[in-house]
Amino acid sequence: MRHLALLGSTGSIGTSTLDVVAAHPDRLAVAAMAAGRNRELFRAQCERFRPGCVSLARPEDAAWLESELSYRPVILHGMDGLMACALEAGADTVVAAVVGAAGLASVEAALRRGRRVCVANKESLVVGGALMRQALAEGGGELLPIDSEHCALHQLLAGRAPAEVREIRITASGGPFRDWDLRRIKAATVQEALNHPTWKMGPKITIDSATLMNKGLEVIEASVLFGLQADQIQVTVHPQSQVHAMAGFQDGTYHLQVCANDMKLPIQYTLLYPDRLPGPVPPYDWNTSRAWTFDPPDPERFPCLPLAYAALRAGGTAPAILNAANEEAVGAFLAGAVGFWQIQACVAEVQASIPVEPAHTLEQVMDTDRRARVAAMTWIRQHPV
Ligand SMILES: NC(=O)c1ccc[n+]([C@@H]2O[C@H](COP(=O)([O-])OP(=O)(O)OC[C@H]3O[C@@H](n4cnc5c(N)ncnc54)[C@H](OP(=O)(O)O)[C@@H]3O)[C@@H](O)[C@H]2O)c1
Repeated sequence: MRHLALLGSTGSIGTSTLDVVAAHPDRLAVAAMAAGRNRELFRAQCERFRPGCVSLARPEDAAWLESELSYRPVILHGMDGLMACALEAGADTVVAAVVGAAGLASVEAALRRGRRVCVANKESLVVGGALMRQALAEGGGELLPIDSEHCALHQLLAGRAPAEVREIRITASGGPFRDWDLRRIKAATVQEALNHPTWKMGPKITIDSATLMNKGLEVIEASVLFGLQADQIQVTVHPQSQVHAMAGFQDGTYHLQVCANDMKLPIQYTLLYPDRLPGPVPPYDWNTSRAWTFDPPDPERFPCLPLAYAALRAGGTAPAILNAANEEAVGAFLAGAVGFWQIQACVAEVQASIPVEPAHTLEQVMDTDRRARVAAMTWIRQHPV
């Protein structure tokens, strides 16, 4: 039996995780659960899964929860509450499904405690990659990626020596603007950018998919998880989202991982690993006629991808600067404060203005994150729509 600490239970990954738990009541239970502001959904989740330790972002919501629940868990709030849930003594597995760099400290702490950490929160690996690897090595835990491409690579690279691998390829749906010309992309609205063709996800990652920054973050994430150089990690546009990644070996052979585009599959893989059981998704249907296409990405229409490669090559605090600027720019775009094309402009400007340093400690990385956010907010104020 695995006992989970689920961080970000009310989001897209969080609710899918609870579907997987519900499908395997004899194998999975929820010991601790944390979310942000969606207190009504969180209350219903608590009643159903009965975790003993729970946390919401704001103290007033935690107080409201206490008055509403029919049972008596430990109720906490804020970043301390999130951390307490991550380190809950009764949990052996942490599902990191909070969005953004807010998830960084809890992932690092859980790895240091030797937990299995199933990480959807790619930003924590992007911002603190080397530190996460160090926490993993010193804590003796496990790091299993939920991101579908990296989960695919975990399966493709199992048992392979690094020297056998020539390159890996992660696939990209191409997002809603895959076939749009540059002029049209520059004028894209929030509603158009949120209209993802194949995945139903939270708003931040959906915008990242429209700019292809999501793929850029995933390239950095792959480098952290699998110890590969930038030149060994490529992106292939595959709009059908059925092939999630490819491993290219030295002899020219490629292995591909295929499954339906449903996040419950990689979530279940990480929770039950190494076991494979039937789950909440029907088996893949090979009796339907399908056409799959594969294309290279276009760096001119999607400049966030080369910006992410540049950050990976620069190393140190460069990915933290990239991520912070992107989070602020995406937030501003969703709030209507900047246009779609300004997301990449803001990231490029902040990247150029903050010197890159070696990343030695979590505090230093978080300090860089704060400085990059201030620079991004200043740029955003100076460039209103
Ligand atoms: N969705 C996908 O298919 C997918 C696929 C691969 C990777 N990912 C990654 O998984 C992560 C989550 O994505 P998502 O799409 O599930 O996002 P989402 O739907 O926006 O959910 C985010 C979750 O984080 C919670 N949260 C935000 N700030 C918090 C804070 N300060 N303290 C505690 N909880 C906080 C939110 O709570 P409230 O809603 O209650 O405020 C919500 O539960 C992201 O890093 C994303 O890149 C997602």
